[in-house]
Amino acid sequence: MPPASKLNPGRLRPLVIVSAIVLLAACGGQASPRPVATSSPATASATNEASGQCSGQPTPAQTEGPYFKPGSPMRTSLVEPGMAGTRLALSGRVLSRDCRPIAGARLDFWQADASGSYDNAGYRLRGNQTTRSDGRYALDTVVPGEYPGRTEHIHVKVQPAGGGTLTTQLYFPGVSRNQQDSIFDPRLLLTVEVAASGLTATYDFVLNG
Ligand SMILES: [Fe+2]
Repeated sequence: MPPASKLNPGRLRPLVIVSAIVLLAACGGQASPRPVATSSPATASATNEASGQCSGQPTPAQTEGPYFKPGSPMRTSLVEPGMAGTRLALSGRVLSRDCRPIAGARLDFWQADASGSYDNAGYRLRGNQTTRSDGRYALDTVVPGEYPGRTEHIHVKVQPAGGGTLTTQLYFPGVSRNQQDSIFDPRLLLTVEVAASGLTATYDFVLNG
């Protein structure tokens, strides 16, 4: 099955939907259905953005990895003219353990490009933003490519005003390489849907403290 970066949203438009079979169709070539991330307790995120539910379970921390760079530009779109890759509209909320929105939390995203390469000289596909009064964030980017040893993922640091920083990574459902990545955690799976312009994904962060 091709990774999410190889999906063809246009071809799949008739299948668009909210069901758990979306990516199954999108990934194609699978002999048996592969659910998309949304519902199994074993793979559910700490919150369910689609339903607005929040379990209050803190989002797991993960390693920062070797490619973080401080000083990223403040921006909500990492897409640049001519940038290759499937467009991805990622959004969600930053919440407290009692499920209240956290305004003014800083999110710093960084990721590989569609071919699995990081820009370590500049700030391509790196950017930070601050949650709005309702705790929401939104990021326009592209689906990252795999690179040796790693499945598709997006790195992020989430820091509430005056609070500690959560460093973690987000993953894509239906990617076969997830199971071979020792860092992969199903609690960090995005909820993904195919849209006309690419993919939309949601994830709510729950901060511990
Ligand atoms: Fe990485």
